[in-house]
Amino acid sequence: MGRQGIPASALDGRDAANLRGDPITGDRYTSPAFMQREWDHMWTRIWHVAGRTAELEEPGDYIVHDFMNESVFCVLQEDGAIKAFYNTCGHRGQRLVWNSSSQESFQCPYHGWVWGKDGVLAKAQDPEDFPQGNPCGKLRLKELRCATWGGFVWYTMDQEAPELLDFLAPMPELYRHYPMDTAVRVFWMKIDLDTNWKFATDNFSESYHTRTAHPQVPPWIDQDVDTARHEMWPGGHGRTVQPMRPSLSDRLPEGVDHPFDAILQAWDIDPQSYPDFETKAMQGWLDLKAAKKRLWKERGYVHYENMDDEEITDSPHTVIFPNVTISFLPDNLVFFRTEPHPTDPNKCTFDLWCMAFPVAGQSVVESVMAGPQPLREAEMQRRAFDNGRGVPEIRDQIVYQDMLLAEGQQRGMHSRGYQDAYLAAQETRVRFFHEVLNDYLEGRR
Ligand code: FES
Ligand SMILES: [Fe+2]
Repeated sequence: MGRQGIPASALDGRDAANLRGDPITGDRYTSPAFMQREWDHMWTRIWHVAGRTAELEEPGDYIVHDFMNESVFCVLQEDGAIKAFYNTCGHRGQRLVWNSSSQESFQCPYHGWVWGKDGVLAKAQDPEDFPQGNPCGKLRLKELRCATWGGFVWYTMDQEAPELLDFLAPMPELYRHYPMDTAVRVFWMKIDLDTNWKFATDNFSESYHTRTAHPQVPPWIDQDVDTARHEMWPGGHGRTVQPMRPSLSDRLPEGVDHPFDAILQAWDIDPQSYPDFETKAMQGWLDLKAAKKRLWKERGYVHYENMDDEEITDSPHTVIFPNVTISFLPDNLVFFRTEPHPTDPNKCTFDLWCMAFPVAGQSVVESVMAGPQPLREAEMQRRAFDNGRGVPEIRDQIVYQDMLLAEGQQRGMHSRGYQDAYLAAQETRVRFFHEVLNDYLEGRR
């Protein structure tokens, strides 16, 4: 363990000595040429999330994942394996499927070729009319590597990419105590946002903006620079581990209900039993750990069974290179992802998936970024952000506040007055992300 308990496998995400100092220039966010380099050298080489394994229950169930101008679909096989294919017919290239659904086989709408869910051509009109020979049983859809972790279905376009678990390391090991496979996606929104996709990775790589952008957070998550732990790994992943207890630097005015009081009370701890605010925050947090360890079973919090003292009360906010963020909380996961627009570097889509760990007897869950939700798999809602008007359901939530800043950030990247970021040590991971991206673009990975 290094500084502040940082594990030996990690770099200190608050130490700028771990950086080369590559500038974070505006063209990275605005230039179509830069966007093309990202596609050529990075997006075609990393692992992408297609969806959740919960979407693939029966053989023939499939998930369609569009990415820029590419499209891939992942199909559950008879033997329970998942295969991923490029979404293009092996005859003359017609797109095969448009939306996630379920089919026994895949008939092309153009000349009617029928592909089995294993990707092998089953039927073609006039099969003997091919001078190359009957294509049935012979031609296959072009397949991609597909794997699962954490209840997510992943694929890569790169035959040479590392195995998924190696690409993700050390996340599978770090998060082995969380029941990610069975988390229920209770809220699912895809939002068109007028900003470059990197806004989200930059934003989720630091908590320096919290006090300004999310003033409601410090009373229940301590993101103070010296209490959070900043970690990053050579593969480009990183996290900030934040105690879920009030920050001692921000105080709510006297007489305002304190959110931490309700958290303590929910676990039979009397917030009035502490002599002062500091003791309530610090000792209350320890008492909360003890209460949860004592009471989890009788209260149906079966997912606490393997969690350690940190996991049972704290929030490791985790970025997986290059575009996936998972915020882990004791009872929830929040998955955030941005993906570039096919042609415009000023636009992206923002995926917000709120996932809950089921607790016996709870039919409504607190989804953290979207308010209370019924415990059931949600349908996807597609929206335009429209300066907040398009997403009234998440108004004033943390993630909404981030999105409100996204467009102004993108405008600033176009200015001749912007040269490079001037970063605090606690924003080290922002530059590190760009340096790992540069490693991909410049062939060092
Ligand atoms: S393009 Fe699919 S059958 Fe012709
Ligand atoms: Fe934020």
